[in-house]
Amino acid sequence: MPASFTLAIDGTFASGKGTLAGKLAGHYRLPYLDTGKLYRAVAKQVIDNDISPDDGAACAALAQNITPDTLNDIALKSGPVGAMASKIAVHPPVRAALLQFQRDFAAKGAVLDGRDIGTVICRDAQVKLFVTAEPEIRAERRYKELKGYGEDISFETVLAQLKERDSRDSGRDIAPLKPAEDAHLLDTSNLSIERAFEVAITLCDAILAAKSD
Ligand code: DC
Repeated sequence: MPASFTLAIDGTFASGKGTLAGKLAGHYRLPYLDTGKLYRAVAKQVIDNDISPDDGAACAALAQNITPDTLNDIALKSGPVGAMASKIAVHPPVRAALLQFQRDFAAKGAVLDGRDIGTVICRDAQVKLFVTAEPEIRAERRYKELKGYGEDISFETVLAQLKERDSRDSGRDIAPLKPAEDAHLLDTSNLSIERAFEVAITLCDAILAAKSD
């Protein structure tokens, strides 16, 4: 097992990839970056400053000024901020402005999760996972999470928003959500987070062992 390596985790919204990424980072003692927070931080400023999500140049100007201390705001977790993040993420200048931050973070080995980590940000990552689950199961998880935050929303609305998010993230021209050719698929539909964690560790260990042969 190398002392340090890069683990790229991509996947669909509410697939469990974030929880999994955090747990894997702890297990392998690697720093962890949830790259969705970068897009959410830009989205929050877009909302706060009443900027149109269609104005790519204005969104990119905000993206250029994102700093690590803006990433820990609890407000970034809200549904509207996430939906706005998906909208501003379609602009190539926004993605370009956030690229170097992510590559610098990954430089000495790290776990990053997002939509384009294995395909764009860390194409040379030693291990790539693509995490997903059935839409209804993901919507149920997200519904419970939002209820926990006190949001007043129905399951049907959560499911419709999730499908809209999937289609925007997968359908955009730049860095669309898709598994890298060398990614290993992990379907968490029927797995508890503990079981998904065990399966992911087994996968990662096997991939790293095969690479060191
Ligand atoms: O992972 P998340 O739900 O926090 O991400 C919010 C949105 O940000 C997601 O719908 C699309 C965008 N995003 C992206 O385009 N690329 C990433 N690497 C991470 C997130």
